[in-house]
Amino acid sequence: MTDPYRAQKNAFARYPTGVTVVSCAPPGRAPLAITVNSFTSVSLEPTLVLWCLDKKSSVFAAYDAADNYAVSILAADQAEASNRFATPGRHDLLEGEGETYATGAPLLRGRIAGFDCEVADRHDAGDHVVLIGRVVHFDSRDGHPLIYAGRQYLEGPIVTERDR
Ligand SMILES: Cc1cc2nc3c(=O)[nH]c(=O)nc-3n(C[C@H](O)[C@H](O)[C@H](O)COP(=O)(O)O)c2cc1C
Repeated sequence: MTDPYRAQKNAFARYPTGVTVVSCAPPGRAPLAITVNSFTSVSLEPTLVLWCLDKKSSVFAAYDAADNYAVSILAADQAEASNRFATPGRHDLLEGEGETYATGAPLLRGRIAGFDCEVADRHDAGDHVVLIGRVVHFDSRDGHPLIYAGRQYLEGPIVTERDR
């Protein structure tokens, strides 16, 4: 069956993004992780971020019920993690793959930046929910990000300096 949204998705895919893995730790079960490129920073004071979750996702109920989530910005060498956590049935984070800070939601090892968040607000938005988080811990290191554009990963370094 042809995808009725193919042309729309192709147009959205012209916009390059980084790739994140967003995790949560539902009580009584293994932590979950999902690949997300709708992440964006929102506010410095207070420090807020957001991402959008598909209501049809197999992990929607877990994230919709969570009070916290953690966002890991993937490094250029983490395309495998991106593919894995975008696969239905492969959202479980294994022992030792993450590290927790303030909220208990794990950040993925190997990331180039991480944001540990309390859910501050939820907005219904068509077939997605926008999850706004208040950042309670963050970290970052030098390194190249994994970039996603035109449904492909770009792993090369960014070479053009911004003209200030
Ligand atoms: C690069 C990339 C970015 C993605 N961004 C999002 C996103 O922002 N929100 C979302 O709900 N799903 C996003 N997805 C899809 C999810 O990763 C999802 O887990 C995947 O479609 C598997 O389906 P399931 O969630 O039903 O298990 C993205 C997938 C990829 C590969």
